[in-house]
Amino acid sequence: MSGEDLRASLIALTPMNPAYQRDPHAVLRPLSHHCPVARDDEAGTFIVTRYADARRVLIDRRTSRDGMKAEEGAHLARRQAAQLPTEIPRTEVVSILQLDDPDHTRIRRPLQRAFHARVRTCRPRVEAVVDAALNAIDPGQPFDLMAAYCVPIPVEAIAVILGVDHERLSDFRTWSEGVILGLNPFRSPEQTATLEHCRAALHAYFHEVIAARRDHPCDDLISDMVALQAEGADINEDELAVNLIALLVGGNLTTTDLIGNGARLLMLNPRERDKLLADPALAPALVEEVLRYEGPVDMTQRIMGEDVVVGGCPVAARQVVSTVLRAANRDPEIFEEPDRFLIDAKRPPHLAFGGGSHICIGAPLARLEGQIALLKLFQRFPELRMVDADAVPAWRTLPFFRGMEELMVTA
Ligand code: HEM
Repeated sequence: MSGEDLRASLIALTPMNPAYQRDPHAVLRPLSHHCPVARDDEAGTFIVTRYADARRVLIDRRTSRDGMKAEEGAHLARRQAAQLPTEIPRTEVVSILQLDDPDHTRIRRPLQRAFHARVRTCRPRVEAVVDAALNAIDPGQPFDLMAAYCVPIPVEAIAVILGVDHERLSDFRTWSEGVILGLNPFRSPEQTATLEHCRAALHAYFHEVIAARRDHPCDDLISDMVALQAEGADINEDELAVNLIALLVGGNLTTTDLIGNGARLLMLNPRERDKLLADPALAPALVEEVLRYEGPVDMTQRIMGEDVVVGGCPVAARQVVSTVLRAANRDPEIFEEPDRFLIDAKRPPHLAFGGGSHICIGAPLARLEGQIALLKLFQRFPELRMVDADAVPAWRTLPFFRGMEELMVTA
């Protein structure tokens, strides 16, 4: 192993590095082994790859998510925060992911209460969305599983939960695609223009629906949030709209990739597929193993609130720590045979949804969609296989996320 291979750089942990795109663990394994708390001065972040260190940072309540609290040299963390308009309250322009307490808890608590209650009752609706996607597939021809199945399910499921009117579904799909561009820190000016247009359209649409539900409540999440506001929940309409958009941004691409990565892993591992078909009660364990083995999100960040020591390395207040969830989830100190995909292995909890107070609010929905979509797909098409299993997968180039552009299969 040459010294150069071990140079810590956040860019090297993105698809801009072809070796990382091909196999992230070929890059992460030596880093985690030789330099588990590495420093990238250019991006202005520590890179933490071991499970215990990552978990400790994630659950540390003294940390922050507000980029403006980061040191001057933390370019990535500060860039986005510095672009925010100063004349509008921060809570009305950024989602809970970038807020600290007390605003984070003030907004997250009612949103989580209403959202999780909806998820607990939405199984039949998600099953109907999945069945419709399956029925639309023509198994006589090879087809792209991403476009036909993995992309439409999350956006339609969240549309049903939020209460998007049927006739606005097509607009809603377009806007949802557009706001996802916000996940790409290296987007082009044209993509930024599309992002802004779609964000504004969604804002206007959500304000319209909030007003309509105030007059005529329906059986949906937006009505639930309006009811909580009326009962005194301290969240204003702009804060609500920003966070409804965050549910789309945070939830669509990630869940698409959970289903896509899971389907690919089951096709590559027919023994695991057969275990699932023989015992459908394994669907929840399957989804946890997909999240651990090939989760959709690479990493998440925290800004330290005080001087601390992470993995034996001093980290000062205001310095940024990037916790690499993908590496932590293969840590051999925690997971036996970490590089094997085994859907019935008893394993400690993974970190694919982050941790602490910012842990993914959408996790219960992602899990439900993943379980239903993967089980029903293989029950309907038990012989599903890749058209070219030896071809290099069409991994997307979006940094910090892992999923495929296209996955050609035959049933
Ligand atoms: C497999 C699918 C998903 C994965 C892997 C995933 C992963 C993550 C991760 C890593 C974080 C950051 C957590 C942290 O910093 O500790 C996060 C936060 C978040 N996610 Fe997800 N997510 C998924 C699905 C969803 C869904 C379905 C939704 C909504 C419908 C959603 C909405 C959010 C929101 C709003 C946050 C910010 C939470 C906060 O800061 O309090 N995600 N997610």
